[in-house]
Amino acid sequence: MLKIGVLASGRGSNFQAIIDGINNKEIDGRIVVLITDNPSAMAIERAKNNNIPVSIVERKNFSIREEMDIEIKRILDKNNVDLIVLAGYMRILRAKELLDSYRWKIINIHPALLPSFRGEQAQKQAFEHGVKVSGVTIHFVDETLDGGPIIYQEPVYIGDCESAEEVSERILKREHKALKKVVSSFAKGRYIVEGKKVKFVPNGA
Ligand code: GRF
Repeated sequence: MLKIGVLASGRGSNFQAIIDGINNKEIDGRIVVLITDNPSAMAIERAKNNNIPVSIVERKNFSIREEMDIEIKRILDKNNVDLIVLAGYMRILRAKELLDSYRWKIINIHPALLPSFRGEQAQKQAFEHGVKVSGVTIHFVDETLDGGPIIYQEPVYIGDCESAEEVSERILKREHKALKKVVSSFAKGRYIVEGKKVKFVPNGA
């Protein structure tokens, strides 16, 4: 069974999607810890409702940014996680120790078709750019901003959306399904990363 650690900063609807996927047996795994940088994140309530341990790691308690990531690494190590999911975690992981020891074990969900519209408010960026198609990307996390090897992408038509909020809502529904699918795949095989290319190898193959 896959031991999953989730990092989230806010609402946590993607975190909830993973919880739901586990509860309905779509995902053969267990969330062993939720780590958040925001003590008022709604994700904390969701964790409590599902008996998932919560660790709050706040930026203000560390004089150096990297030390915050080292504390996160310590919590992940202690919980023996196999997979780390950034589900609306609004900080960039910077510490080399963390990235090196969890290489190709950290994934992020991004609400656009990368490499278009990296960074924050990707849905607003896409809406303002007037693109007709945006989407969902799930990728491995590396040292770059939203630039790690891409695991999964799905297009979402947004050409008739009348606001950035409408774009966000439409994409979010697809994020939840995509994230469940990708997280569940980690229990069914492994990913090989060669350069920018990612290949899935099913168990037993
Ligand atoms: C999602 O749109 C996700 O793609 C992005 O941040 C948002 C988080 O939403 N990285 P939620 O907290 O999962 O509801």
